[in-house]
Amino acid sequence: MGIIFRQLKDPTTSTYTYILGDSLTKEVAIIDSVRENVNEYKELLFKNDWNLKYLIETHTHADHITAIMQLKKHFPFSEVIVGKLSDATYEVTRVNDKDSRKIGGYTIQFFETPGHTKDSVSILFDNNRLMTGDCLFIGSCGRTDFQQGSIKEMYSSLQKIISLHEDTLIYPGHDYNNRFVSNIKEEKLLNKMIKLTNYDDFEKELNSWNLPPPKKISESVPANILGGLE
Ligand SMILES: [Fe+2]
Repeated sequence: MGIIFRQLKDPTTSTYTYILGDSLTKEVAIIDSVRENVNEYKELLFKNDWNLKYLIETHTHADHITAIMQLKKHFPFSEVIVGKLSDATYEVTRVNDKDSRKIGGYTIQFFETPGHTKDSVSILFDNNRLMTGDCLFIGSCGRTDFQQGSIKEMYSSLQKIISLHEDTLIYPGHDYNNRFVSNIKEEKLLNKMIKLTNYDDFEKELNSWNLPPPKKISESVPANILGGLE
């Protein structure tokens, strides 16, 4: 008996979805589900007899639509948890910085880590695995140029994350280079954005990215504030 921890990848958007919980009580949480993959989640949950206790979003996504409403059909009692500044208009619980929840015998704790979006949170599971959403990426960080993103907030959120114990494992919301996991010690050494300790250099780097808008932003954001309802 011990923890449940699965990292699933959406191949189209390189989004990571996490399923975590306690194998003794069979309670699980899903972080950042993707609507197209709902059958995969359902299969896993039913096959293992897992009870979906929490549906968590690290932020309002712009690149994919969440599976929350699809999953709520099968697990109507699951609690949807989002950051306190989320624009969600359906029934959600908004958490504050350092709020926590129990999942079986384990703790999940929420940290406000805005910068990519105003409502971004990172989630610490069992005190040693941090799901960073689109704040800290392996070797980099999320973009800050839409959804009330802020370079200043991204800078402080990254500082906040790396102040956690250096053995904390980092599980990002995306990886475009087929990496799965890192830890704080490695990120301090190798992450190009964390290495830019001078704020002006950090700002200059992010301003130079000039990325095209996510393809599905105009469709995803309005759907996601409704829980992904079609
Ligand atoms: Fe995002």
